[in-house]
Amino acid sequence: MEIRDIRTSDLEAVIEVHKIAFAKFFLTRMGTRFLRAYYQTALEFDGRIALMAAEPGTARVLGFAIGFLEPQKFYEAFARRRKQMLPAIVLAVLRDPGLVPQILRNMRRVEAQAQQPIDAVELSSIAVGSSGDGIGGLLLEAFIKAARAQGALRLTLTTDAEGNDAVRRFYETRGFTLDATEMRGARTLCHYVRAIG
Ligand SMILES: CC(C)(COP(=O)(O)OP(=O)(O)OC[C@H]1O[C@@H](n2cnc3c(N)ncnc32)[C@H](O)[C@@H]1OP(=O)(O)O)[C@@H](O)C(=O)NCCC(=O)NCCS
Repeated sequence: MEIRDIRTSDLEAVIEVHKIAFAKFFLTRMGTRFLRAYYQTALEFDGRIALMAAEPGTARVLGFAIGFLEPQKFYEAFARRRKQMLPAIVLAVLRDPGLVPQILRNMRRVEAQAQQPIDAVELSSIAVGSSGDGIGGLLLEAFIKAARAQGALRLTLTTDAEGNDAVRRFYETRGFTLDATEMRGARTLCHYVRAIG
């Protein structure tokens, strides 16, 4: 297995892993067009760290980790793309009207995050096609190494507080500590942080 930077040509395969790993999550429920816009913005963003695990010599994505050196600038870039994403948003709402409150909440959050400088690298998504094979741990190590090489001192991430014990253990046994919790609609989110300097 090799870990390398994600290229634009890997985008569709990354999206497929995302859909499996985050089947019930907001971005997946918004549909493939929206997911594509999100990951396209991520791959075009200068301050990205975007890594994937692949079988050597193949383009098969076994897992990926994506995050941002200056997260607020990424959220700014994503908010600027909103007009372009309108058709995808309309389609998602027609398919699933229950998404409306979450869309509004997320728009407000993206705007707030764009205003709020965070002096840490944010790991925004990490996922594998098949859990428990050690790939997630290797991706996380490679992500930390890349962030450190860029001079980052802290790594942050958010994950669900409830019904998510295995994922929380994954982070806690790898040096992350719980920094705060936040309510997002009916969900409670944990903010984890790890010093990497
Ligand atoms: C979290 C995730 C990236 C970990 O990757 P992984 O390849 O399964 O992790 P590893 O094999 O390196 O490590 C396994 C550890 O992860 C934890 N883990 C989390 N979810 C797991 C799952 N579904 N199956 C097995 N282990 C899981 C285990 O507690 C295990 O801990 P241990 O090493 O103390 O035994 C992966 O399970 C995943 O893609 N989950 C779905 C997407 C997700 O929730 N991502 C995190 C969002 S914040």
